[in-house]
Parts: sequence; C-alpha cells; structure tokens
Amino acid sequence: MKPKIAVLPGDGIGPEVTYSALRVLAACLPFEACQALVGGAAIDATGDPLPAETVELCRRCDAVFLGAVGGPRWEAAGPRWEAGRPEDGLLRLRRELGVYASLRPARYLGLPTPLKEGLARHADVLVVRELSAGIYFGEPRWLREEAALDTWQQTAQEVRRVAHLAFRLARRRRKHVTSVDKANVLASSRLWRRVVAEVAAEYGDVALENRHVDAASFELLRAPHQFDVILTDNLFGDILSDEAAALAGSTGVLPSASLGEGPGLYQPNHGPAPGIAGRGVANPTGAILTVALMLEHALRRPQMARAVEAAAVAALRELRTPDVGGHATTEQVTDAVLRHLSWSRWASESEEEPVAADWGV
Ligand code: NAD
Ligand code: IPM
Ligand code: MN
Repeated sequence: MKPKIAVLPGDGIGPEVTYSALRVLAACLPFEACQALVGGAAIDATGDPLPAETVELCRRCDAVFLGAVGGPRWEAAGPRWEAGRPEDGLLRLRRELGVYASLRPARYLGLPTPLKEGLARHADVLVVRELSAGIYFGEPRWLREEAALDTWQQTAQEVRRVAHLAFRLARRRRKHVTSVDKANVLASSRLWRRVVAEVAAEYGDVALENRHVDAASFELLRAPHQFDVILTDNLFGDILSDEAAALAGSTGVLPSASLGEGPGLYQPNHGPAPGIAGRGVANPTGAILTVALMLEHALRRPQMARAVEAAAVAALRELRTPDVGGHATTEQVTDAVLRHLSWSRWASESEEEPVAADWGV
C-alpha cells in the first residue's frame, strides 16, 4: 500500500521547499499526497490557521509534511492565544497530533560556519526538544496594557516520555545525553532534572550530564564536540536548535521530526523567510533532509534515508543557494540532489523497524 502523506505547504518559502521535498520523496518511493491549508494561507482562505479539515486529513495519513508558517502580513492579528496567528495553527497541530518530541539534528555539512575552522568540523548534535508542555502551553496566560503572564508547566510524565526517547536515540549514536535546564532557578527544571536522572538509571550504557541552559549555550559554540544528544524542554529546545544551526552554517539546512503516538509532523527547522519568498532562491536542503527523517521514522526506510542525506550533502559540494554563499536556485540544488541519489543504495533494502516502534514507555 502506498503511504499517505498530508502536505501542508504553508507560507512564504514553505511551498517552494515543500515542492523540492516532494520531488525527492517521489524519486524514492510511490506515495499518495493530500494537500491541506495551515498558517497564514489558511487564515486567508478560511479565517482559521488550522481548519478542522486539515486536522482530519493529518490524522488519516501516515505522516505530515509542513513547509513553514507565518510572516509580516499576519503579524497584526494579535497574540497567538487568540487563535489568530499563523503560528497558532502550528502549535495547535502539535497538540492535535499529540507530538511530544521534536528531533532536531544539526551537524557539519561542509559549509562555511561562523565557528573557528576545525571546531565546526566535529559538530554532530541531536536536539531532542520537549514539544507538548513548558511555557508554550501553560495556563493561565494573559496580556494587559501594563502586565502579562505566562505559566511554565511541566509534569513528570511529560519529562519521562521525552527522556526515554532521547536515551533510546543516544544508544544509536555516541551514547551521551546532555540534559539542559535552569535548575538553579526554576521549579519545573528541578522536576525535569530529577525525572531525567530516574530515566537515566535505566540506561546504564548511556552517560548523562546536566547543564544549565546559559552555560550550555556558550559551550555549544565554544566546544560543540562535547555534545551528542541534547535533551531539553520546549523553550530551551526552540532556542538551542536555532543556535545549533550555526554549527551547520544556515538555518535553511536543518530538518526536524516531531514524534508522538500517531502520525509524525515533519518540517524543516526554518521559518517562512518572507524576505526571499517567491524568488526561487530558498535553500531546499532542510526540507530535503526532513524527507530523510520521514523515510527513517515514518516510512520504515532507514537506508533510503541515508541515501537522501548523502545526496543532499554531495549536492552542497557542487552548488549552493545564496544563504550558504552560492548563486544557485532552489530548483538547481534540488536537481543536483536528485542526480546524486543512488538507487543501488536501497535496491536490496528490506523493511526495517523504525525507532518509533520500540520507544514505548
Ligand atoms: P525564518 O526562519 O523565517 O528566517 C530567519 C532567517 O533565515 C532569514 O534571514 C531568512 O531569510 C533565512 N532563511 C530561513 N530559511 C531559509 C532557507 N530555507 N533558505 C535561505 N534562507 C533561509 O525566521 P524568522 O525571520 O525569525 O521568522 C519569520 C516568521 O516565521 C515569524 O513570524 C515566525 O514566527 C515564523 N516562524 C515559523 C517557523 C515554522 O513555521 N516552523 C519557524 C520559525 C519562525
Ligand atoms: C519552531 C518554531 C515554532 C516554535 C514557532 C513558529 C511557533 O520557531 O518550530 O521552532 O517556536 O516552536
Ligand atoms: Mn524555532
């Protein structure tokens, strides 16, 4: 049976990089794509950044691919909890799909980076961001003329499930987890640190290190090779995953996979980049590497995923979009990735169990 993919292109460069991603996925395997609205595009068409039909479609699919949401056009629509902004569509979709962990890998891809030569070369981190709680979803929350309130909420079970996933993923990597929190100040961080330690006790072969978020942010750029899996909460994970983009050279080259019990939500780490939208120069690498994550975690094709990654990296050696110092267009980079995709790599591949099958907690 052909896998069903819900395709939510969204705003800005979202549709441009989504098109590239679908071209690459189509070169890998047959699939059925069903398109739906999200973000500003959905507001324009229906008044709602996440129409009910979009949620229903996503639930019926094997995986969801989302381009990006947001942009200055919709900025005046008010704070996100009034359900008026494009970003609210994304946050609600995470809730509706029950995705609670965002996997955000960042590594050296041979591109120029702001780091000292030699430092970035050894960078290979996986940020595992808690996606369902923290200050993003806490209630009460209000905004008045002279004051505002956000609530940081965290339960032990929310920490436990994302921690188990991080430790299982670390087992497939360099067996080192850095848990990042602010336990010297925040109560929710103290809970976080205690529960992570309890979970770590079940993984004797994986090392656990705790760091405060301020020090970790500095160390990530000073000595990135110290980090393997970074396990952290919703807000710190949002920030650290963008910081990790510096290790790769551009936010345009990083992918993400948001996983839970049902269909996963796959999207590049970057946003809609309104400044370059419609010009055909968006970097499609983040979206294409997101296809690799989808192949691995949703479609049970890990070897095919490796082939897509290898092709994306090989293409970057040949030509680059302006954000990473080149003059190539989105289409030219995508064409190069397709050329590099080697069919022989997966011709004999058997279906393998994805990581999602054994992470149950
Ligand atoms: P952004 O990712 O849209 O842009 C940040 C910078 O990176 C810009 O200079 C942009 O041109 C560049 N960039 C991003 N992706 C690129 C790509 N593929 N190729 C080349 N250059 C790329 O983030 P921002 O400017 O902070 O946010 C703009 C809007 O997008 C905001 O409204 C924000 O809320 C929203 N946003 C959405 C997502 C998402 O949908 N996942 C992520 C981040 C921000
Ligand atoms: C991300 C984005 C989103 C987030 C925004 C657009 C709501 O920045 O996926 O990192 O903060 O989670
Ligand atoms: Mn972000």
